[in-house]
Amino acid sequence: MKEKNIENNLMEKIVSLCKRRGFVFQGSEIYGGFAGTYDYGHYGVMLKKNIEEAWRRAIDEHRQMAFIESSIFTAPRVWEASGHVSGFSDPLVICNSCGEKSRADHLLESIGVKADEKMPEKEINNLFDANRKKLKCPKCGKYDFGSVRAKSLLATSNLGIFDMEGDDQNTYLRGETAQGTYINYKNILETGSFFIPFGIAQIGTVFRNEISPRQFLFRQREFEQMEMQYFVYPNEAMNEYEKWKKERMEYYIKLGIPKSKLRFKDHENLVFYAKAACDIEYEFPFGWNEIEGIHYRGDYDLTQHQKFSGVDMNYFDEETKEKFIPHVVEVASGLGRVFLMVLCEAYNEDSLKESKRVVLNLPIKLAPIICSVSPLLKNKPELAEYAETKVYMPLKAEFGRVAWDDNGNIGKRYRRQDEIGTPFCIVIDFDTLTDDAVTVRDRDTGEQERIKVSDLVQFLKEKIN
Ligand code: GAP
Repeated sequence: MKEKNIENNLMEKIVSLCKRRGFVFQGSEIYGGFAGTYDYGHYGVMLKKNIEEAWRRAIDEHRQMAFIESSIFTAPRVWEASGHVSGFSDPLVICNSCGEKSRADHLLESIGVKADEKMPEKEINNLFDANRKKLKCPKCGKYDFGSVRAKSLLATSNLGIFDMEGDDQNTYLRGETAQGTYINYKNILETGSFFIPFGIAQIGTVFRNEISPRQFLFRQREFEQMEMQYFVYPNEAMNEYEKWKKERMEYYIKLGIPKSKLRFKDHENLVFYAKAACDIEYEFPFGWNEIEGIHYRGDYDLTQHQKFSGVDMNYFDEETKEKFIPHVVEVASGLGRVFLMVLCEAYNEDSLKESKRVVLNLPIKLAPIICSVSPLLKNKPELAEYAETKVYMPLKAEFGRVAWDDNGNIGKRYRRQDEIGTPFCIVIDFDTLTDDAVTVRDRDTGEQERIKVSDLVQFLKEKIN
């Protein structure tokens, strides 16, 4: 029976499991770590790929959808046109006593004052000043902050641009994938047979100079985004925005996230060009927080790129013979945040046949491994050979996500696979050599059944579907 009274220290437990089982490691760990970066291990990569695939498939259910991969580096003008160079920032405050850097909006929220990073600079400054006597440094505990200033989130590099003296000029690592999509909108339109409404989707790594990366994968400095921009008729845009809101919420519920732990939160401080915007929030162990943004951005981005590049971004409507710049509704989620949400939901501690265990009750389509294959005894060549040639290799060829596991006794192997979230463990024993059947053990119930080797592919296919 599933017990769910494990909320205490859930984040610590998840971080520990991620390291113990090779999902996620601290970036540059052997050098003491590098804040805001994480390295994915074998099972982490597989879980991440499955999350990406689930997203890609859901987005691809729309007939008019292009998938692209734009480059991380772009001409610096891209980020000037988009407004990131001048306005992509978080409100920074520094403790005068210990030098700790914090986000002003987070400090205000910690004392119950409503604030967010999208607030106009003046407003957040005033709010901070009005409350500064109550705002305590999270590191040294003193009440002594300097003034609030806007800290750019854009990460700079020296790639590829030198001035006349050969000195480096700044280039930017992309802060979102969306700009790569806008600058390719014409290419996609002209090379595909798309007509409005159509979407361009991509998954890719982005960089943000976060002031205080925290909560494990939740706030990183390097992370992956899954973004889709939908190009629509201006008079259809609000309708499309509402449709995407509904669709994206249903998507997370289908992914196995309980409805009660998801909610919409409308943006209170819209940027001047946005017509409507909301977040989908999930109730993490550390509170309700954004996993996805849904934004109706008007024609702002394409208009800006038209202005800065000189390239005509108009769409020609064959039916009405009208030219116009399409409006955009975007859905933008962070892979790391979805990954963390999935782990928070899957993590469980329960008792199975009187023994306590940690288990990841991952949906089969997300589980890194569908099944493990084990010869009952490692040192019996006839079992190992049967397991390898008649079970492991054919299943691996069919499904890919299959693990060989002959390390330790069967109990230990089950515990290990439970922690990885493997839905089925297949064991080849001495009976298998005569009856060509194997034991298949179910992760969630611990029940075991004998299945003919010739029926295994079909059995697993049915479970997956
Ligand atoms: N193009 C729109 C855009 O980038 P955003 O709300 O800034 O919108 C989209 O980012 C998503 O990226 C967020 O909903 C969140 O899931 C994820 N995200 C943002 N900052 C992040 C960070 N520092 N670490 C991990 N994920 C982040």
